[in-house]
Amino acid sequence: MGNVVIFDHPLIQHKISILRNVHTGNKQFRELIEEISSLMGYEALRDLPLEEVEITTPITTCKTKMLSGKKLAIVPILRAGLGMVNGIHALVPAAKVGHIGLYRDPDTHEPHEYYCKLPDRIGERQIFVLDPMLATGGSAVAAVDFIKQHGGKDIKFLCIICAPQGLEALRKAHPDVDIYCGCMDQGLNEHAYIVPGLGDAGDRIFGTK
Ligand code: PRP
Ligand code: URA
Repeated sequence: MGNVVIFDHPLIQHKISILRNVHTGNKQFRELIEEISSLMGYEALRDLPLEEVEITTPITTCKTKMLSGKKLAIVPILRAGLGMVNGIHALVPAAKVGHIGLYRDPDTHEPHEYYCKLPDRIGERQIFVLDPMLATGGSAVAAVDFIKQHGGKDIKFLCIICAPQGLEALRKAHPDVDIYCGCMDQGLNEHAYIVPGLGDAGDRIFGTK
């Protein structure tokens, strides 16, 4: 069974509170999404494999640890997941980036796929799927289904806000996936938006409506 981490770090809570505020503008919203993703990534990347190497310091030679170079893939769910990419990519610059395009039908709330491009040898990679919002869970479940159909196995899902229903749906459909959530909210409204949430993440990142 995969792990579920709900962050209680004060920096993450503080930054999510600013994100929620309806008066926070697009620029600050984008910056905060990136900062929170980076803080979450620090934890989600904790089990990266290390190898021992020998290096020479100005004082002596020593054996020390460096990342073993395991292949990584960062896969944002379009559009809003794009806002999280730089925060993670800055930590692991060698990671390849794939994209999955999904949008929710406004009436049925069902996800519809419109684009998918994944890095090569996806089955050998540790995969980080990014989407700030886990609401009904439909988009996350569909994205992970898709990655598995293409051979992906080692998958972690990172979101900034989840609803209990979305977390439950993703856990049920993909119990092997580790899930990292910045915080868990009360639930969903009649339009399947997270309450209190932050509104439409894609619109707030890209300034659309
Ligand atoms: C939002 C969000 C998730 C999805 C979450 O995307 O970024 O992908 O909704 O909802 P769910 O858990 O109920 O599936 P949206 O469909 O609004 O597309 P966008 O990012 O292009 O705005
Ligand atoms: N997508 C969003 O952007 N926000 C929500 O609250 C739910 C889905």
